[in-house]
Amino acid sequence: MIQIKKITVVGAGKVGTSVVQILAYKNLGDITLVNRTAGKAQGIALDLMESSPVEGFGANITGTDDYSLTKGSDVVVITAGLPRKEGMGRDDLLLQNKAIVYDIAKNLAKYSPNAVIIVVTNPLDAMAYVAWKASGFKENKVVGMAGILDSSRLRYFIAKELNVPPKSVSGMVLGSHGDFMIPVISSIKVNGKPVIKLLSQEKLNQIIQRTIDAGAEIIKLEGDSAFYAPASSVAQMAEAILKDKKTFLPCSAFLNGEYGIKGIFIGVPAMLGKNGIEKIMKLDLTGQELSSLQKSADAIRDMVRKL
Ligand code: LAC
Repeated sequence: MIQIKKITVVGAGKVGTSVVQILAYKNLGDITLVNRTAGKAQGIALDLMESSPVEGFGANITGTDDYSLTKGSDVVVITAGLPRKEGMGRDDLLLQNKAIVYDIAKNLAKYSPNAVIIVVTNPLDAMAYVAWKASGFKENKVVGMAGILDSSRLRYFIAKELNVPPKSVSGMVLGSHGDFMIPVISSIKVNGKPVIKLLSQEKLNQIIQRTIDAGAEIIKLEGDSAFYAPASSVAQMAEAILKDKKTFLPCSAFLNGEYGIKGIFIGVPAMLGKNGIEKIMKLDLTGQELSSLQKSADAIRDMVRKL
């Protein structure tokens, strides 16, 4: 008999509920949505379950405030925390979200000691560190979501500029999920062709800046933090882990000396499989990209020190 996978999502905000919806449509396993107020999680779970005859998914979704129902999860996703408002940097949330994420990770680890934790709460790279400490898990079992999101935004902006299908653009954004993120220009290809052959440096610089500011651009327009693209990015990570895909995706991973960085979580290309992070890819970065990565690491270290 095939064991049905179990996924827990903590936080019934926009990101959390969108993650649950995408995971249900993908039929990846049964899902428990945890929220401080049980009714909210229960209502969302029921609403989604009532779509199952139309959408045709067989996954079971449960809403609760009781962590014991998350027991035996294969993947747990932490989205709970205060979101950014207009004018706030992701780092402004540091201490408030630290307390929230610490508590949640402790509870999750207690009931699902073999799970892989995906952290979404901002400031992302620091919160991955908090979840790692609180859970007591091995570092490969904790991973932060951001690189896929930042890369997806960059890929979309390039596709739009060149009027090509978004899927035909590949490329990675590394470093911290913040002002020091690093769009790796040498990694960006359009149908396999280096982007530098297709767009001027000036245009690329504009697109890079827009990518760095993309989260703030949404907040400014919508009045609230982004959730569709973040949720899709989480779902891609969860799928890679649950299906043991062993695909390289840009994620916030704990480094043990790779890229000359040690002891923090930072965005790098990481192989995701059933054990969480199974390998870190060593990209041939230019000297400038490497020094940007160090700068990014410094910014994360500063935050971790404040914890
Ligand atoms: C953003 C938030 C999720 O980048 O950090 O939109």
